[in-house]
Parts: sequence; structure tokens; C-alpha cells
Amino acid sequence: MTIYEIISKKRRGEKLSADEILFITEGFTRGEVPDVQMAAFLMAVCINGMDFEETMQLTGAMMYSGDVYDLDREIGICADKHSTGGVGDKTTLVVAAVCASCGVYVPKMSGRGLGFTGGTIDKLESIPGYRTELSHEEFIGIVKKAGFSVTSQSGHLVPADKKMYALRDITATVDSIPLICSSIMSKKLATGAGRLVLDVKCGSGAFMKNADDARELARFMLETARRMGRKCTCVITDMDKPLGRTAGNGIEVAEALQLLKGEIRPGADGLYQVCMELAARMLMLCGKGTRDECVALAENAISTGAAYEAFCQNVSLQGGDVHALEDYSLLYSPKKTLLIRADRAGFISRIDCEKAGLCAVSLGAGRQRKGDAVDHSAGIHFVKTVGEYTDKGDIIAEIMTSTPSCDTDDAAHMISSAYHITEEEPERIPPVIYTMDTV
Ligand code: URA
Repeated sequence: MTIYEIISKKRRGEKLSADEILFITEGFTRGEVPDVQMAAFLMAVCINGMDFEETMQLTGAMMYSGDVYDLDREIGICADKHSTGGVGDKTTLVVAAVCASCGVYVPKMSGRGLGFTGGTIDKLESIPGYRTELSHEEFIGIVKKAGFSVTSQSGHLVPADKKMYALRDITATVDSIPLICSSIMSKKLATGAGRLVLDVKCGSGAFMKNADDARELARFMLETARRMGRKCTCVITDMDKPLGRTAGNGIEVAEALQLLKGEIRPGADGLYQVCMELAARMLMLCGKGTRDECVALAENAISTGAAYEAFCQNVSLQGGDVHALEDYSLLYSPKKTLLIRADRAGFISRIDCEKAGLCAVSLGAGRQRKGDAVDHSAGIHFVKTVGEYTDKGDIIAEIMTSTPSCDTDDAAHMISSAYHITEEEPERIPPVIYTMDTV
């Protein structure tokens, strides 16, 4: 068996054996398979797919490429969440704090930006001093004290995914059901929380552009969880427009803080509903009540300030400057800001979400090359969002950056072309589309 043979077999669209999948995964993790060969393999998978059996084999090979934990045994009953990636997705920041304040432990391992989508670790690192590289012991200690902790992927945890994720990010090999399923499930299974809520994003700003693909990805992940003895709920949510009103790093933390402080009206733009649904589903999996009871618990955590307190405690334990939670200029202070105005009057009927994500990356909020640093002050404020009315000349968006090489005129053009304005009011897509559970 050679790597060359495995790549060409997948290029021809043939099914790989368990041994072949293990051979290439282990070889790449050990550094024996170079990036060029792995990139070719990933592209072949992207184009020709993998069936469920192959995907399970890949998930297992990746999961056992590093340390495997049993957090339910170490911490007690806990729940984890993961998103398949979107634009403006700051739900983890809210949901982890809400669940923690309702008595559910959330040990969360998060990722960095991928393609045109943002990553929780990049966002949290906009809080000065916030440490995301924690030892396992420190991670567990913070979960026990604050109710939740967010850590980046240490070199010992699913190293196969860490390396593949970085390569997929720059080789346009992200939007593949088997690759997303194995990437997410290998990490979730290795960290070992017994209860799992997966936010499967669907729409132009997601890797799954339509409901059929989102459902198929959810089915793959639910079946993997079921076979591995985990309770899992997939919540399919809308990503045809950016979630909330911001995309970037510091600016998204500020928006999450506004929500935690009760300053965002439920129903304002979908962010509140998605956060409450995800938190409620995690609480349900931990036996806190029916769906409606759990939504009420989650909403109460916001209105009483309990969730915000849990967030503050986490920030302080992870070394972050708590002043930044009140003074948002410590989170992001862009050197350059440009206002985007409507070129006609009408309703915002659509914001091309992938274009908005690519614009955020071009402003410096994401990476163009492997290992690039991100600009925490870069981002987009969607002053007007889908369904809202604008007059000609009104400000519809604001873009910001501190990256000297950023072409702001190009970014401004990109974001104004992402906005579609029509005379008719657009049809409303619900922020939470549907849910699926393991049986
Ligand atoms: N999130 C992940 O962790 N992996 C993916 O492939 C996509 C989103």
C-alpha cells in the first residue's frame, strides 16, 4: 500500500478500506505524508466523497491520533456544543455561559477561523490576556470553578485534525460532508462529553448551502454519535444571512456581551433565538426539563445577569482583562473605518453571507495563508440586516481594519455588492429551521 495508490483510488471515486484510511491518517499525523499529498487526498475526498463507513473509519483514525478523555467521568455530567461554521457565529460565547449558570458543565474545545467562517478561539483572543492554550488540568479546573472553559486544540488532542484543518483552510477543501463530520466528531468524541449539541448551519454563509446537504451532514454526525454511545441533538439553523449584526473578532465578542447583558431584544435579528435554542437543547440533554422549560431557564440566566457573571468569571480565570467586558475599545480599536451607504431605498432582501465572510477575511479578521495572525480589530457591523428598510444614502454597514495591507476600497465594494435591496419585503426565514436527535 502506498500513499500514491490511496490518492489515486479516491481520485477514481473508489471506496477506501479501513487500513488505507488509517495508513494515510497516521502517516500524515506523524509527518511522514507531506502536505502536498494530503492536500491532493483531501481534494479527492471533497470531489468524490466518502460513504458513511469510510467516514466512521476516518473519524476513528483521527480521534485516536492523540489523547482521548472521558470528561463525564472527570467532571460529572457535562455537555458540549459545536458549530459547522458560519459568519457572525458568536453563539458559543453566550451558550457556554448560559448553560454554566444553569448548572451544566461545558468543557469546550474550539477552533480558529476556517475558510470564510470565523472561529471562537480567534474571537476570544481579542480579550487582552485571555489564554486559550490550557493544560488539561487547568482546563478541567476552570470548568469546575466557572462552569465552562474554552480551550484551543492542544497538540495532544486529535493532532490529525489540527493538521488537516489548517491544510483544508487554505486549499478550498472544507465544504465536504465526510471531512466536516470526521473533523467535528473526532474532536467531540476525543474530549469525551457524553452529551452533544451540534449547530448545523445552512445557507450561503455555511459550508452546507442547502437544506438537503445540511440534513445529510446532521444524519452522518448523529449516526456517528449514536454508534459511539453519545446523546446528540443537531439544530439546523439559518446561515443565509450573517448571524446577528457583526462579523469579526473583537466586534463579535462585544455583541455577545451585549446579549449576555440583556441589551439585545429577542427577535431583533435571530442571534438571541439561536442562542436560546442551542442552550435549551444542551440543558435538555442534561435532564433539566422539557424544551420549553429549558428555554425559560436559559432566558432567565440572561435576564438575571447570571450568565454574564459566569462569563466574567471564566474570563478572569483564563487570564483575560475583565475591563474589556465593559470597555469594548479594549476588544477592538480599528485604525480605519469606512461607512457603506444604500444606493437606493427599499428593503434589505439578502446579504450574500459567503461574500460578507470573505470580506471579513480580506479586512484581516481571518487568514489568507496558513499560520497568519488575525487582526482582532477587523470586522463588519451590519447596521441594517435582512428584512429592514433603508432610505437611499442611509448607512447600511460599517467596515473596519487595522491591517495596513488591506485594500479597504475593494472591501467596501465587496460588502456593498453583498447587500441586495428590493422594493418588496423579503420572506422571513426562521433562525432555527429544525432539530434532529439521536434515538
Ligand atoms: N468545524 C470544524 O471543527 N471542522 C470542520 O470541518 C468544520 C467546522
